[in-house]
Amino acid sequence: MAKAKKTVFFCQNCGYESAKWMGQCPGCKEWNTFVEETALPKTSGRTPTARKTENKPISLNQIDIQEDARQDSGLAELDRVLGGGIVPGSLVLVGGDPGIGKSTLLLQMCRYLSQRHVKALYISGEESLSQIKLRARRIGDFTDDLLLLCETNLGMIERAIGNHNPQLVIIDSIQTLYNEEVSSPPGSVSQVRESTSVLLQIAKGKGVTIFIVGHVTKEGNVAGPRVLEHMVDTVLYFEGDRHASYRILRAVKNRFGSTNEIGVFEMRESGLEEVKNPSEFLLEGRPEDASGSIVACSMEGTRPILIEIQALVCNTNFGIPRRTAAGTDFNRVNLLMAVLEKRLGMHLSNCDAYVNIAGGIKISEPAIDLGIVLAVISSHQNRAIPDHVIAFGEVGLSGEIRAVNMSEQRVAEAKKLGFRTVILPKVSLKALEGFKGIRLLGVSSLREVMGLGRQHQ
Ligand code: TYD
Ligand code: MG
Repeated sequence: MAKAKKTVFFCQNCGYESAKWMGQCPGCKEWNTFVEETALPKTSGRTPTARKTENKPISLNQIDIQEDARQDSGLAELDRVLGGGIVPGSLVLVGGDPGIGKSTLLLQMCRYLSQRHVKALYISGEESLSQIKLRARRIGDFTDDLLLLCETNLGMIERAIGNHNPQLVIIDSIQTLYNEEVSSPPGSVSQVRESTSVLLQIAKGKGVTIFIVGHVTKEGNVAGPRVLEHMVDTVLYFEGDRHASYRILRAVKNRFGSTNEIGVFEMRESGLEEVKNPSEFLLEGRPEDASGSIVACSMEGTRPILIEIQALVCNTNFGIPRRTAAGTDFNRVNLLMAVLEKRLGMHLSNCDAYVNIAGGIKISEPAIDLGIVLAVISSHQNRAIPDHVIAFGEVGLSGEIRAVNMSEQRVAEAKKLGFRTVILPKVSLKALEGFKGIRLLGVSSLREVMGLGRQHQ
């Protein structure tokens, strides 16, 4: 009797492998994500033992690296997120929701590089050549150094890369690739994992830079790029509100740079435009003299970003008050409201509260605590905070205002954008003694914050 094909179960969310089906994944705790896939034959030819040549161990001193080998991508915001440019031979994953602009971003990068005679190969498994042409027309003119290929077969892609020897390859997207040796459908965990390991070998073996596009979907029927994250050098996430025009590129893993830099782009008619000063952009359309609104300052990597925090506090009509937080941590907002209730005796337990960071950006830094607290107080008391005021500082459980790092950069950014008063932790004042032309109000507790409001009346 022929031996039955061996199958295993993979969690489509995180790639957890199991011999039997399970309701909940022990790895990521998601429900109903296990799908049966055929197990890869042990001798699929990709295992290290199948290699003929052997790598010799060498000492660190023997390794040659060329300084400034990084390649400028033509988009300063992308370079910043990559840690100062593209590292040749690196494998970069660009993840994000469908329609956010991943293909556009990479095509723009290819355009710049092909103008500098970098041989690029754009492999699309999602769109036809004419669709790519339509998009390219909106972006601008291209040179003949960029070649396009519509292909989803991994073997063919390997061959095309071998034939054309490009320096840069774009794979759009990894979920459409398939390897004939693997029987599961494109987008399944085994296909994605197998395709990436082949691409990894090409990138490292030939020194080709490869950008992989990966879709993230909530349904779980397409393998999330989670499985890939371990294999690639850099993981970038392209995010943003699809209804707003700006997009944020964020590094969540980077072997060649810092992961807390962000790049800001705006989606225009003619492709993505870099946003040099995100603060100005995020503060556009701010209401004047409205209660419950204040500007706070958050650091994104080395760059300060000013954001507007809005709060709406009103009496609840139901037994249980509703609380929501958009753009920031919900539990943090609840905690801050509890601190206000306990330390300042504010009656918030019978109030609904909605806190929102305007513009759809997500901030989790504790430095915006003071901003959230001020917005809530302002809305609760229905008193507007003057619009030349910004605030930053962490709020502790006893109502103390704690220091945050990089206060100088934050104050400098506020000054640059024309703010006249900064409310900040008192302990940070010492570092800012030399600052002229902006009023610094140091506070050490929530009581002092309330005192500021009284002086102002
Ligand atoms: P796309 O790059 O196709 O997204 P992804 O590859 O992440 O799925 O971008 C799609 C969106 O961008 C689409 O809704 C149209 C919009 N867009 C513009 O607004 N301007 C442009 O110049 C281009 C090329 C696209
Ligand atoms: Mg696309």
